[in-house]
Amino acid sequence: MSDYDPGTPDAYTQHLAEVNEKKEVLASEDIVNANGVLVVAKGTPIKRDIADKILNHKLLKPLEDTVKIEDAITGDSLFNSIKIFVNSNIDLKKIHEKHELNKPLKALCKQYNEYSILTQKLTVLSLRLPEEFEKGLFCSWLSVVLAKQLKLNIEQTESTFLAGLAHDIGMLHIAPEILDKTDEYTAEEWRAMQSHVVIGQRILSNMSGMPQDVSVAVLEHHERCDGTGYPSGKFAKNLTTLGQIVALADALYPIRFKKFVDDGRSLLETVPIMQLNDTVHFYDTYCALALVVRSSDLTPINIVKETEIPSFIDKQLTDASTLILSCKVVVDIDKCLPNDNKHQLVVACNLTDRICASLRRTGLLSAELRRWMEYVRDNKLTACYREMEEISLMQQELSWQISRARRQLQVVLEDKSLHKFLKKKTSLQKFYRQLCLLNEGAIPDGMNSEDIDMIEILSH
Ligand SMILES: [Fe+2]
Repeated sequence: MSDYDPGTPDAYTQHLAEVNEKKEVLASEDIVNANGVLVVAKGTPIKRDIADKILNHKLLKPLEDTVKIEDAITGDSLFNSIKIFVNSNIDLKKIHEKHELNKPLKALCKQYNEYSILTQKLTVLSLRLPEEFEKGLFCSWLSVVLAKQLKLNIEQTESTFLAGLAHDIGMLHIAPEILDKTDEYTAEEWRAMQSHVVIGQRILSNMSGMPQDVSVAVLEHHERCDGTGYPSGKFAKNLTTLGQIVALADALYPIRFKKFVDDGRSLLETVPIMQLNDTVHFYDTYCALALVVRSSDLTPINIVKETEIPSFIDKQLTDASTLILSCKVVVDIDKCLPNDNKHQLVVACNLTDRICASLRRTGLLSAELRRWMEYVRDNKLTACYREMEEISLMQQELSWQISRARRQLQVVLEDKSLHKFLKKKTSLQKFYRQLCLLNEGAIPDGMNSEDIDMIEILSH
């Protein structure tokens, strides 16, 4: 998974040289190579030419252990950064105030100050990858919110805060040309990107006094309970609570701060989306999020104008009829997938199981719900319009989950080593083709969504 070697200088060396343009970065001791030969003398600023020199050597110690940044982010300035970030987002501010987070956060920021390598890494992150830094602020803040709601003890709360803050520091060691790439990654580049979790874990586990559960949580922040994550594709029983708290926070960030940024939606609107993911992360963690968000007096945001709701509902009903067909195929796939412990098969089963379970639990796509939507539309029940928007968010999420199941089925069908386990391979191939057609907006022959009640189908 990772070629990372703490003694081999990498992209971090160049980041330090760039930081040195704004804040002085000095060799805090003689930097020597693996053979004990002096490369850079103590007190030398890490300018670009010095960085180039360092990059030619394998070092005796990791570079971060032998440099110091003047004016690195202290506990006080970290606390201020979190406060500024929270105060600039009204939903976060309300949660922060409701849960009286100032005092615990201040204490946690003070603790952070004791890990000098972490203060160095965060300073570099803030200047070189500011979006990752902001995500770290959000994840550390939300991790504390969730830790409080889950009644974790002080040590666990401190660890989840540090893990939230540091979860992506491994990114500082990935080549910038990969980080900045906007086209699709090659398999090799994707492998390099994914290695940030292992790099982060190794850096944190080398930090003096850093609790071990911090590095484990960082390693696990892209793992998912259904085995679809990385680096190990672990399942729920092998994952830690702290890792899944950070994973949930990390997954929420792009929804709240990218997907929702234009329409002003808040954390409140992430709840219906996360409801369809309540088995992807620990269920308790999802419930803690839903409880915190729903009890913090957040103002619901209605995106669709009242006058446009009837046509909005029409569109949702049309989308629902295609989704129903896709879900019916997913149910068929679920029945045909073998119960075998081959990893890719288990992942496929978990993805289809998750969709079926979500449909059962939420009643999404049921005939009853569709009738209710028609009734709201025909009678202009304005009080229910918000619910219609939530249903729309859930339908979008369901659609995304169906694409993931389709891609996983493709992985299974293309892996010839799995074919001997697939007793119903021909049926699975047919269902895969149907899902592809539906994804392109075409209706496969013989399929009709009328009179289909997903709840009825799922009960057989
Ligand atoms: Fe990450």
